[in-house]
Amino acid sequence: MAILLTLLVLFLDFGRSQGGGGGRRPPSEYWSSGGATGAKYQTIVVDQSGRGNYTTIQAAIDAIPSDNMQWVCVYVKTGFYNEQIKIPSDKSMIYLKGDGKRKTYVVWNSNDSIETDATFTSEADDVVVKSISFINSYNYPLGSNDNPIAPALAAKISGDRSAFYRCGFMGVQDTLWDVSGRHYFKLCSIRGAVDFIMGSGRSIYERCTLSVIAGFLSPQPGFITAQSRDDASETNGFVFKDCNVIGNGTTYLGRPWRGHARVLFYNSTNDLMFAEDGCRGEGSDTSGRAGWVKRLSKEEVWKLTSMSYIDEEGWIKDQAFNMLPS
Ligand SMILES: *[C@@H]1O[C@H](CO)[C@@H](O)[C@H](O)[C@H]1NC(C)=O
Ligand SMILES: *[C@@H]1O[C@H](CO)[C@@H](O)[C@H](O)[C@H]1NC(C)=O
Ligand SMILES: *[C@@H]1O[C@H](CO)[C@@H](O)[C@H](O)[C@H]1NC(C)=O
Ligand SMILES: *[C@@H]1O[C@H](CO)[C@@H](O)[C@H](O)[C@H]1NC(C)=O
Repeated sequence: MAILLTLLVLFLDFGRSQGGGGGRRPPSEYWSSGGATGAKYQTIVVDQSGRGNYTTIQAAIDAIPSDNMQWVCVYVKTGFYNEQIKIPSDKSMIYLKGDGKRKTYVVWNSNDSIETDATFTSEADDVVVKSISFINSYNYPLGSNDNPIAPALAAKISGDRSAFYRCGFMGVQDTLWDVSGRHYFKLCSIRGAVDFIMGSGRSIYERCTLSVIAGFLSPQPGFITAQSRDDASETNGFVFKDCNVIGNGTTYLGRPWRGHARVLFYNSTNDLMFAEDGCRGEGSDTSGRAGWVKRLSKEEVWKLTSMSYIDEEGWIKDQAFNMLPS
């Protein structure tokens, strides 16, 4: 039975400050050229068959100059790319585009450390990724090997102004480390079982599917989020807006990774059994909810669910490859 999470907030404290994002911004001559239209850009084609400019994604990224200040599209054709890829902090304005999240896959198998094992690491500001799936196959798909369940990231995102459209992130534990910065995820699928969306990003996940594969852990529960806001003055927190929670297993919507964790489920549906009384049923029923689950005023909800939470200055519509109406 699907349950509507009208409004469910998991956090210990509410930061008053919605303060500026800061960070480096590319010169206006590039970023103001406006929306999905108008921007001129170079395209580098990655094609495993050898008919593009490169056969690996990383070779294409490596070919982009340091301190890049113009949008560059790295177009990755259909295929399974067995490589670990990284957009380093000095390579902004990259638009990584696949043929579809069920066509272009980047797959890596590592559980070294959460700092280094992500299939995709993005450290630059102004990155747009569309129509690609990232998989860490250390434990995924479940049952494909005998590895004990351990953190194995599909993606680690730490740049500011990063947007993901129609992307897939697949793993089991710590699938997506939304480390820091302002991020927008739209129409993405994120799959995992334990703490599979974690970190201190200031992020809106809109119309995303959170696919829980915690059934195999039974009787142990799964955990969707592990948010790590550490102080009441921090502006980060995860907002899930119009999302769909599907899958199996007994699952918590989240457990705080740090003391001021902040996660909001707004107008989202779920098809799961939740381990926690407070997460069951209408969000307006606060009885039986864990003590750290808070109610928000209408104004606070509005602040967190409006785009200005992550986008006061309009960076999303200014990015050359956004998916919003121009
Ligand atoms: C990619 O290949 C095309 C066709 O060969 C070529 O025209 C273009 O200059 C190449 N681009 C880069 C960035 O190497
Ligand atoms: C990674 O997985 C291997 C094989 O399951 C295991 O022996 C090793 O301890 C794991 N490494 C870490 C850092 O968890
Ligand atoms: C849970 O879902 C996964 C992925 O769809 C599936 O492989 C698995 O068999 C399911 N487990 C149970 C217990 O239903
Ligand atoms: C709730 O989500 C549905 C489905 O995504 C959407 O059509 C509707 O406009 C949303 N309602 C509100 C109040 O945001």
